[in-house]
Amino acid sequence: MTTELKQQTVVVSTIDEMRKISESFRGQTLGLVPTMGYLHEGHLSLVKQSLEKCDHTVVSIFVNPRQFGPKEDLDIYPQDLSGDLEKLESLSVDVVFNPDRQTIYPEGFKTHVQVDEITRNLCGKSRPQFFKGVATVVLKLFNIVRPQYAFFGEKDWQQLAVIETMTRDLNMDVEIHRVPLMREPDGLAMSSRNSNLSPEERKQALSLSRSLKDSKEKIQQGIISSKELRQNIRNIISAEPGTQIDYISICDPVSLEEKEIIKGRTLIALAVKIGPARLIDNCIIED
Ligand code: PAJ
Repeated sequence: MTTELKQQTVVVSTIDEMRKISESFRGQTLGLVPTMGYLHEGHLSLVKQSLEKCDHTVVSIFVNPRQFGPKEDLDIYPQDLSGDLEKLESLSVDVVFNPDRQTIYPEGFKTHVQVDEITRNLCGKSRPQFFKGVATVVLKLFNIVRPQYAFFGEKDWQQLAVIETMTRDLNMDVEIHRVPLMREPDGLAMSSRNSNLSPEERKQALSLSRSLKDSKEKIQQGIISSKELRQNIRNIISAEPGTQIDYISICDPVSLEEKEIIKGRTLIALAVKIGPARLIDNCIIED
């Protein structure tokens, strides 16, 4: 009879403890999965990739106040630390790094990371503080955990582009791994924020993935005008009473520059407010 020995997950909240553990992994590969918690299968797909690729995996859980605007949903951002730990323990994750706000932003904190150009459009337009907050906290997490690999989801396509640009521009010694967007069986992109939707709002939220699927079909039928495709997406989403479109972008997946026609690999990305949540979704049109 073989007994499977489950590895214990260690939860740490201080930078010193985290550094000591990372130091003890020296000579072996370490993967980091940064999250804000309230974990779902989308997050766990990143964790599984790290567990597969690396000798050790650290998952950070930190709701980063600096990436929320003053009128945004920081106060109602869902949290469930014990549920998260249960999920991560069952996957035998080595370490959960769960610092408090004071640890990450002690009094007198003054430094921020600003990635230019690709932060101007899409989410950067209506959330001007967002990518500065994301890049800053991710750089801090990299410096604290010192992973060789870090895993990010394509659900947040622009965020991934920002992290890739930051690591390249600042010669950071960490390899970024992209993980595909995970959806619920009915097509809704998995998101911690989905839990803030009422049953009615959740139904309305399906219009995002539906509009992307419809766009793919239209493109296959030969429609290549971004204007026409955008209008079609707008019609599908606006048909749901509670929706408020923030943006519909049809752009180059690397530069995030808008495209007038679908030519070459193209990203279609959306952000829509529904009730208390601002949801994003995207798809890639291959060349
Ligand atoms: P959070 O929204 O918790 O997401 C953590 C990671 O999970 C991100 O890389 C995100 O792209 C990925 N993810 C979320 N939903 C996904 C889905 N449906 N499919 C695949 N991956 C998904 O993104 C953040 O936190 C924060 O901005 C953070 C990077 C942690 C910085 O604070």
